[in-house]
Amino acid sequence: MPDMLCSLVRLPPLAPLLAALNGQGITIRRPNPWEQSILRQFIEAHFSRNWAEETSVAFTQKPVTCFTAWQADQILGFGAYECTRRNYFGPTGVAEAHRKKGIGKALCLACLRGLQDLGYTYAIIGGAGPVDFYRKTVGAIVIPFDDGKGIYGLKEEPRLI
Ligand SMILES: CC(C)(COP(=O)(O)OP(=O)(O)OC[C@H]1O[C@@H](n2cnc3c(N)ncnc32)[C@H](O)[C@@H]1OP(=O)(O)O)[C@@H](O)C(=O)NCCC(=O)NCCS
Repeated sequence: MPDMLCSLVRLPPLAPLLAALNGQGITIRRPNPWEQSILRQFIEAHFSRNWAEETSVAFTQKPVTCFTAWQADQILGFGAYECTRRNYFGPTGVAEAHRKKGIGKALCLACLRGLQDLGYTYAIIGGAGPVDFYRKTVGAIVIPFDDGKGIYGLKEEPRLI
């Protein structure tokens, strides 16, 4: 799964997506510190422990570098940024039963705006699985490393000397 590069100065608008989701009773917002356990459980149940670990880094920062989708008191999806490495978007995921409603795109755009607020003009989508989703929703392009593995192919940090 390759990393992808995404411009943060040409992002599509987020407000219409949020309004459409609100109409279905779905809210996108940052999780509160006391919601860490429920978010961890959601990620482990629907995705993986590794993704839960990566996302836990979001709670070391203020504001929390993560967005969540909620319907009443139920989490439907999440997106994290500035967690795996600086300027990275991901991991992200939407519960299978709630896909294709615009939640994934809204979470992605909210996180990319979060990165924009940190001063970046480009973002890296780490280990992008659904490459076509990112091409279509935010105009991202694949970073062409030979092994196609990006950050997750690293066995060690680059040497400093
Ligand atoms: C990828 C994922 C987050 C998308 O979430 P979603 O809520 O279904 O996406 P949306 O409804 O916001 O989709 C937005 C648009 O992208 C399209 N799309 C969704 N998933 C797609 C995919 N895998 N490939 C190509 N296009 C896709 C939708 O059809 C929609 O198009 P439209 O605007 O023309 O209607 C979700 O499928 C998921 O959780 N996948 C498993 C985890 C994963 O792979 N995470 C990414 C790790 S990098």
